Amino acid sequence: MPVTPVLTRRWNVPESWTLATYERLDGYQGLRRALAQAPDDLIKLVKDSGLRGRGGAGFPTGMKWGFIPQGDGKPHYLVINADEGEPGTCKDAPLMKADPHSLIEGIVIAAYAVRANRAFIYLRGELIHAARRLRAAVAEAYEAGYLGRDILGSGFDLDLVVHSGAGAYICGEETALLDSLEGRRGQPRLRPPFPATHGLYASPTVVNNVETIATVPFIVNYGVDWFRSMGRERAPGPKIYSLSGHVTRPGQYEAPMGTTLRELLDMAGGVLGGRKLKAWTPGGSSTPLLTADHLDVPLDFEGVQEAGSLLGTAALMIMDETVDMLPVVRRLTQFYAHESCGKCTPCREGTTWMVQILSRMERGHGDSDDVDTLVDACDNIFGRAFCALADGATSPIVSGIKHFRNEFLPITPVGPSGSTPSGSANGT
Ligand code: NAI
Repeated sequence: MPVTPVLTRRWNVPESWTLATYERLDGYQGLRRALAQAPDDLIKLVKDSGLRGRGGAGFPTGMKWGFIPQGDGKPHYLVINADEGEPGTCKDAPLMKADPHSLIEGIVIAAYAVRANRAFIYLRGELIHAARRLRAAVAEAYEAGYLGRDILGSGFDLDLVVHSGAGAYICGEETALLDSLEGRRGQPRLRPPFPATHGLYASPTVVNNVETIATVPFIVNYGVDWFRSMGRERAPGPKIYSLSGHVTRPGQYEAPMGTTLRELLDMAGGVLGGRKLKAWTPGGSSTPLLTADHLDVPLDFEGVQEAGSLLGTAALMIMDETVDMLPVVRRLTQFYAHESCGKCTPCREGTTWMVQILSRMERGHGDSDDVDTLVDACDNIFGRAFCALADGATSPIVSGIKHFRNEFLPITPVGPSGSTPSGSANGT
């Protein structure tokens, strides 16, 4: 039975993306096992495994599948969220390029479990190479009888469509994604109702992340005890961590859930140039910044939350001691302002306004109230917008100010005697 690497173990095998290679390395064995079981038993298996969504929120996958009403007479859909757009996140794209059949196998198993006969992969528009690989793999899977009618003689039918979006961050939000898939402008819907009951074409829909679904064939093949032997009791299994920024060997590192940044940096050759770590994101720019004091935080959902941040997509953007935080925070906030869909006021107006303040501060024209104004704006935005985009936009600002407040305060000119006036922000 494999231990980590599990999800990435085929990535360096020549022609890893072809069906021939996949089948030679145990590919589609999980599907054969799954089709021999009752759908409800598969849902129970995934529930018992403790698998939690790898798209960022960590919602229990088996529970999500269990929400799909049965015997309701409506079509059910499975939609794979492959719109990986969170800054710093780069795990689903390499997975789809290197091992597309693991995703397809997981899709057939999941669709069978929730009794969906049509599935979609909603792919980030910029991922042209991944789209080619996926489409070729889907064609191979149809040809071999893993997709289409009466899959492997089981009587189960599934059609799978690969749909490329137009490259909008908001379309990674699951309800905006569904709107976009239906042919409308991608904007979030109010939840509840959740997609589990009112999803694609108002029908019960499971929306799962790529990595989550690619994990499923392994659970079916090797079982719950094997899966739970890795990671933490509260978040078991393997995880792909993306390391970028000031790190010697940036890239994807697979390790059990709960691995620490210190351990990941050891794997990646440490901070670039042997310099000191200053700040990092545990899960992309939407997750509050942490510092060198958090090197030993276990990187699982609760572990990171206890440290004051979120695991999110496990995208670790590493910033060394040479980095100025104000331009970093301004740049990240600009990203959210640019990607805001404009549907709700706190997000549309708030992000733009905060960019203006941060830009002014960066040009050296900040005033002593700016930091409090920014924190107050974030307080008023967080939890008051349609979706998580606006909450994410507040993360770099609030956490940047929390850990590096000095860098956001205006520089007070030094007086002729060389002393700064009392109460100067510069000296704190
Ligand atoms: P959420 O916690 O609201 O929902 C998570 C999932 O559980 C959704 O599929 C939702 O439909 C389902 N769910 C939750 N409560 C439910 C209920 N009562 N009944 C039925 N289903 C229910 O999180 P959300 O807003 O979907 O995603 C936020 C996360 O997305 C953040 O943690 C962030 O890290 C991540 N994210 C990931 C990006 C990427 O590129 N992968 C980009 C931006 C954000």
